[in-house]
Amino acid sequence: IDTQVKNKVKDISLAGWGRKEIKLAEAEMPGLMSLREEYGDSKPLAGARIAGCLHMTIQTAVLIETLIELGAEVTWSSCNIFSTQDHAAAAIAAANIPVFAWKGMNEEEFDWCIEQTLFAFEGGKPLNMILDDGGDLTNMVLDRFPELVKDIKGLSEETTTGVHRLQEREAKGTLPMPAINVNDSVTKSKFDNKYGCKESLVDAIRRATDVMMAGKVAVVAGYGDVGKGSAASLRGAGARVIVTEIDPICALQAAMDGFAVKKMDDAVKEGDIIVTTTGNKDIIVDRHFKAMKDKAIVCNIGHFDNEIDVAWLNTNATKDEIKPQVDLYTLDGKEIVLLAEGRLVNLGCATGHPSFVMSNSFTNQTLAQLELWTNTDAYENKVYMLPKHLDEKVAMLHLAKIGVELDVLSTEQAEYIGVTVEGPYKPEYYRY
Ligand code: NAI
Repeated sequence: IDTQVKNKVKDISLAGWGRKEIKLAEAEMPGLMSLREEYGDSKPLAGARIAGCLHMTIQTAVLIETLIELGAEVTWSSCNIFSTQDHAAAAIAAANIPVFAWKGMNEEEFDWCIEQTLFAFEGGKPLNMILDDGGDLTNMVLDRFPELVKDIKGLSEETTTGVHRLQEREAKGTLPMPAINVNDSVTKSKFDNKYGCKESLVDAIRRATDVMMAGKVAVVAGYGDVGKGSAASLRGAGARVIVTEIDPICALQAAMDGFAVKKMDDAVKEGDIIVTTTGNKDIIVDRHFKAMKDKAIVCNIGHFDNEIDVAWLNTNATKDEIKPQVDLYTLDGKEIVLLAEGRLVNLGCATGHPSFVMSNSFTNQTLAQLELWTNTDAYENKVYMLPKHLDEKVAMLHLAKIGVELDVLSTEQAEYIGVTVEGPYKPEYYRY
């Protein structure tokens, strides 16, 4: 395969396999495909040069090709060292799209890949849009290449952790461009974070360990969107699940969903499988490792690897790799299995969320890029969310595929509940 653009992937000969899976994924991503139909002719993203940093998976390939179909030029890197699917990256490279991503890179290579995407546009032109997941690309541009900022019209951010970083910048007055928080579209966080993890967490633990789930005690730290999906995933597999929380509302939700809620110091002694989902740091630290059962399986599904103190394990236990992304640590004569080196396990040990739920997330991403590119003047240097009518549109685009039929409000009914027949159907403060 002869590619004309600059790229770095593991093995370009995987492109054919990647392309076949991309075709299958397209059939499961009706939101993205209908945006291609709606905007494919008018090319509203013409002139946009989008540098993207988001797990280079098959689903992301469908996002990338949607952005291109809408007229954009795109360069890509992955936002995690283990999350690239090499056949997906190969297919993108073979389609002459600059991509710098392979599974199992080191952290230096990770930074190198992101940096390449800033300077890989045709004719050496500068990027003018950012699409990010977790904020690593955004931080690189703002902190290391601030001279690039003047050309950039806006950025869209995929995940909870990245949104936290943007909100900090906005509060400090150091956000130099408008940003759209894609994560908090209802059709993103209440679907990808929840139903996505519900499918991909247990998938990852099974692929990594083949352990019998039924009857095991699983501990889930955090009962936010990812925690809710993760706890449901483990329960669905027959595990007995204990939740830990610091927020009384989420703790009460967990209890009323039927989960035991305990302090981590106690729960960790009972857990056969321990999963962190908080997006916070220092959830599993030295005293927790010391209190664990022999052969406890430990993993994280939050964005960064600071939830589990892997550095402590590396200095205080002996490590033996069972296979890539599955390590056995021996500590005081006891063994602990750590998955994906404490990085997000569903992308490290499995293939991330299924296409259908990612179509919801990525339709929001595409709408955010469209909005920032075509309606730039409407936005100040703040963090915005997509309007509710677009959130409802994303959901609408996914109904037919799964055979959902909606009732329609009568004018009288709409008036009675204070909405219009066409929506939005809920006030802004409604929480779903
Ligand atoms: P969230 O804010 O809805 O939930 C986090 C929960 O953790 C909150 O309820 C919070 O009270 C709780 N928490 C915080 N500190 C805690 C502590 N010390 N002990 C126990 N609980 C604690 O956030 P969300 O959306 O669930 O995201 C969580 C993380 O997962 C983020 O890093 C996000 O970026 C990431 N994420 C990962 C995905 C994946 O596919 N692996 C998908 C979507 C998000």
